[in-house]
Amino acid sequence: MNIVVGVTGGIAAYKTVHLVRLLTKAGHDVTVVPTEDALRFVGTPTWEALSRHPVTTSVHDDVARVRHVALGQGADLVIVAPATANSIAKITAGIADDLLGTTLLATEAPVLLAPAMHAEMWRNAATQANIETLVSRGIHLVGPADGELAGGDSGPGRMSEPEAIFDAAVALLAPRDLDGLRVVISAGGTREPIDPVRFLGNRSSGRQGVALAADAAARGADVTVVAANVSADVLAAARHPSVRVISVGTAAELSTAMKDAARSADIVIMAAAVADYRPASVSEHKLTKEQGVLTHLELVENEDVVSALAVSRADGGAPEGQTIVAFAAETSASADERRDRARRKRERKGVDLLAVNLANAEQGFERPDNAVEIVGEGGEVVASAAGTKREVARVILDAALTLR
Ligand code: CTP
Repeated sequence: MNIVVGVTGGIAAYKTVHLVRLLTKAGHDVTVVPTEDALRFVGTPTWEALSRHPVTTSVHDDVARVRHVALGQGADLVIVAPATANSIAKITAGIADDLLGTTLLATEAPVLLAPAMHAEMWRNAATQANIETLVSRGIHLVGPADGELAGGDSGPGRMSEPEAIFDAAVALLAPRDLDGLRVVISAGGTREPIDPVRFLGNRSSGRQGVALAADAAARGADVTVVAANVSADVLAAARHPSVRVISVGTAAELSTAMKDAARSADIVIMAAAVADYRPASVSEHKLTKEQGVLTHLELVENEDVVSALAVSRADGGAPEGQTIVAFAAETSASADERRDRARRKRERKGVDLLAVNLANAEQGFERPDNAVEIVGEGGEVVASAAGTKREVARVILDAALTLR
């Protein structure tokens, strides 16, 4: 998406640096439009380096491309962070004496303001009247938060944290096509203990499952993530009021949590890498070389969780019309062979859709990007996606939605 980030002259501009990072990392094309005053706080090179676009403040720059209106016309969303009391007054009055002003007047995209000012200025009748006018015109607000302000004051007026502004932006961009649906997603990789310090695990970070959760929540779904050994850092990307996280460790714990959550789910997505086997017994004490026991490990098979969920659905243990999506990590270099295996795997597991990704050193695990083919009934490839895990998530949810 094309996002314009307007920055006006307040100290909170330093936090907008992180917001621009979050937006570009999520795959958005960001153009930063600071005011002259904003550049006193954070300079042009920083904005250009982060957004990878030229940064200007005046309507007289790059006139040939009519930048003063083109930016607003081409935007899917305009964010102003920080929005100072002065800039809020100017936006309310429709003043267009710089590039940000003209961009805001020329845009038909949603506009999100993140106010930042001293508490007195926020409470002032002029500011409050302006805010009321802007809200009545359909302009969106995030914050201000209550807390410590520049100069040691505190009260309402602190700019919302970049993560909160990012979440508000994502919510504004997303269609609400999963409104009212309950989506359950497993993410991460299970760990099967061998002894108190060792386990059998896999390289799944949980990023794809978390991206699915974030996208589903942004589209209005009520989301449960069953997270197997997913780091807090990765989980942070799915922070949303309608996302609930259940942390699990082993395949057995994941199975219990998934069966419980799937009983009321409209869409179930098994993105977790589940261990197919676990050690037949778990040693209470650390196994030592002296014991010479680490050369062989006896394994027993784990239950296939997604197949069990499909069976339970067939037995009426799920809401009418429940959709089940499984994943398959295939390492074969031949696309035909991957499709063939996918066709058989989808049928064997009894799921509606199978998202096949090519897992090797270049793609798949522990990486921000992913590429999948989604196989449906009869082995037909119903969709494919390549890009950020969030983009792949969107396509998978689209495919699940078309089955409903
Ligand atoms: N899966 C599961 N329970 C298991 C193993 C896998 O629910 N015990 C799920 C995964 O979450 C994934 C799908 O099954 O959605 C496919 O996983 P994959 O490892 O590709 O399939 P396997 O059945 O293990 O087949 P194989 O290892 O033979 O490729």
